[in-house]
Formats: sequence, C-alpha cells, structure tokens
Amino acid sequence: MKGVILAGGTGSRLRPLTEITNKHLLPIYDRPMISWAIETLVSAGIDELMLVTGGTHAGEFLRLLGNGHSAGLERLLYAYQDKPGGIAEALGLAERFVGNDPVLVMLADNIVEYTIKSAVDNFNANPTGARIILTEADNPDHLKNLGVPELKDGKVVHIIEKPEIPPSNYGVTGIYMYDASVFDIIKTLEPSGRGELEITDVNNHFIDQNMMAYDILEGFWGDAGESIDAYWKVNDFVRENGANKIKH
Ligand code: G1P
Repeated sequence: MKGVILAGGTGSRLRPLTEITNKHLLPIYDRPMISWAIETLVSAGIDELMLVTGGTHAGEFLRLLGNGHSAGLERLLYAYQDKPGGIAEALGLAERFVGNDPVLVMLADNIVEYTIKSAVDNFNANPTGARIILTEADNPDHLKNLGVPELKDGKVVHIIEKPEIPPSNYGVTGIYMYDASVFDIIKTLEPSGRGELEITDVNNHFIDQNMMAYDILEGFWGDAGESIDAYWKVNDFVRENGANKIKH
C-alpha cells in the first residue's frame, strides 16, 4: 500500500501562526506536526509515501524530512499543489505515484492516540473500494466541523460535510483508504460551495457503489488544524500521552 500525506492549504483557521509557516510545520509537543502523521503511516507498515504541499513554505518540508529515511521511509516523494483546491484535488496529484496500488491518504493535521495498523490490515485483506476511519464525538457540537456519517445496519449510507444536524455521533477522520479507482472519481467532481473538490464527495461515490467499509478508532483523535483551541488541545494531549501507540 502506498501512502499520501496532505499538507497543503492556507491554514486560515490558525492565523496568525500560519502567516509565517505552513500549518503542518507548527510544533505538536516535541516535533513538527507533519512528523506525527508520517509516524502514523510508518507504524501501519507503509514505507512509500508522497507528501503533497503548496504555498511559500514548501521547501521547509524537504529541509525537515529529506529523503525520509530517518523517519523510517524507503521512498519519499513530493508534489506541489499550485493553489488550495481541496483535499480531493491534492490527492489527484498523486495519481502516477500510486499507480494501481491501494493507497492510504492522511491529512497531516490529524493525530491519533493509537496506531491505525489494524484498520490498514483490514483494508489490505480486501483492498477494493474504500475504507474510512470514524471517531466517536466527545461533544456533538464538534461534529458541525467534520464530515458525519449516517449509519444503518453496520454500513455507512451517506456522509454529510459539516452538518447543522449531525446524523450520528461519529466524525469522519482525515484518514482514508482507497483502491486506484479513486482517481477516476476525482476527475468527475465539481467544486463545492467553498470552492474545493471535497473528499466527502469522493466517499459518497464509493458509498453509492456499495464499496465503503469503516473502522471505529479507539482512543483520542484530534484535528490540530481545526482552530487555535483544537491545536492546543492536541498539543496538551500529545505532551501527556504521546501518539501512535500500540494498544495493549
Ligand atoms: C476535512 C474533511 C472532513 C473531515 C475532516 C477531518 O475537513 O472535509 O470530512 O471530517 O477533514 O479532519 P476540513 O479540515 O477540510 O474542514
């Protein structure tokens, strides 16, 4: 399985911290945010990775990560997104790198308490369609900032992006697994109200084809890019508890 880490965007929700650097280079406890996402993938057994970024600080990723070997990667490639066009557009840049392999996509501002290896193993056992990772909400209000699945008989029947009335108590994390047909779906997408190609539209395509599975995450999940408060909540959590741990 190949890995794609998305580290673009303008980081507008973390301004002014992001006036002077890329959001994913801001510290989470003792290292830059991006390093935790790479560790999430490496700990799940992925060692070939493409990092997609953009903006004026893209060069700093190369300075931090180089060829990726010290982070445990066999191969690290970089792609540059000319302008922020959404998660699905950024993923589209990795098409040739991914080829016909299954791919795990992770938003670089997501942090997990425990390794996602079991979910990755589940997808690798039957790597067709899509598989997403859900997290149970600690506070229903939080779901208004996320994609939220409607669940029925153990299946996802639809995902609503940033719903006013959440259809379940679960959020869609920024960790997605796909077969290579994802790139054909991306080419059919139209920009959403916020002018982006939405990953939720990609996921709803797979759901409509009855090709969507999911796992529910154990332990803490955070999106450090959601707000300044979320950024500090994630920082405090990781400082006290660490991340990407093996669950015993
Ligand atoms: C994105 C996705 C959303 C998902 C979230 C997880 O939101 O669109 O479905 O729940 O990441 O971090 P964004 O951060 O672009 O607002």
